[in-house]
Amino acid sequence: MNINGKTAVYGIIGKPIEHTMSPAIHNHLSQALGIDSVYVPFRTDGNLEDTVRGLYSLGVQGINVTVPYKTEIIKELGGVDTLAGAVGAVNTLKYTENGFYGYNTDVMGLERELDSEGISLQGRHVVILGAGGAARAAAFMCILKSPATLTIVNRTKAKAEEIRTSLLAYAKENNIGAGEKDIRTMEPSDINSLPESGYIAFQCTNVGLYPDVDSCIINNDSFFEKTETGIDLIYKPETTLFMKKVANAGGKAYNGLKMLVYQAVCAYEIWNGISVPRNVAEDVQRLLAGKQ
Ligand code: ATR
Repeated sequence: MNINGKTAVYGIIGKPIEHTMSPAIHNHLSQALGIDSVYVPFRTDGNLEDTVRGLYSLGVQGINVTVPYKTEIIKELGGVDTLAGAVGAVNTLKYTENGFYGYNTDVMGLERELDSEGISLQGRHVVILGAGGAARAAAFMCILKSPATLTIVNRTKAKAEEIRTSLLAYAKENNIGAGEKDIRTMEPSDINSLPESGYIAFQCTNVGLYPDVDSCIINNDSFFEKTETGIDLIYKPETTLFMKKVANAGGKAYNGLKMLVYQAVCAYEIWNGISVPRNVAEDVQRLLAGKQ
């Protein structure tokens, strides 16, 4: 790495930040593509307004935002992309003349993962497990893909209802053909009552995340028999219990590593105005798999 006076600086803010894989991804991309930029972690503890102002005045060209600031950051920005605004979370900031502009590349990254795996949601029955920030991003990505039904399953049903209400409002505003009866909510204990089969399920809770590797949000075999594809947003461990249950019942299972890589690739593309070649993105995925 050859850092000089013209090297563009990028980074990530969050708390905690010590375990982030983003610097490894972004610095690998810059090296592979011959782009003069560097990406560093910023542990962010103080006032968020001061942090954003400081980063902006130093001319930091792009910032990723992680837990716990993805929602709180919005009020500090010069503008927000429509989809990120609807999701209510921003994970990528781009330096502009009018302040930082916010995007949600978690949504874009998940979409890119599905494309790269050849998974289409159109006309399918989709299940979202969880109703936190990750589930909300996944639900918005799904509703844009015209599924036949979308069912949000969460322990705290009120949070699932909240996402449903936001999705219906977004669908109405943007003329997306998702009606009241197409978006459902339920608690995990009621999952048996799902009437269809061939589900595409997104596991968006933190149940099963290392070191809690022997847990799974759903423990009902009949659900897994009805699930054709299971995408766990967790990438550590590499194979979660949810993924094992999907595979054991004959379905195809994916972990969250590709989503992680593609959310970074999408941010990199927004910042640099380029398209990252697929083989370079795949190299990054191999690099991360080795670091797990
Ligand atoms: P993230 O930003 O990663 O989505 P989050 O917003 O804290 O994290 O959401 C965590 C999700 O995992 C929620 O859906 C949570 O369910 P509740 O809304 O009922 O809290 C779910 N979750 C976490 N631990 C759980 C557990 N032991 N059993 C069931 N659901 C759990």
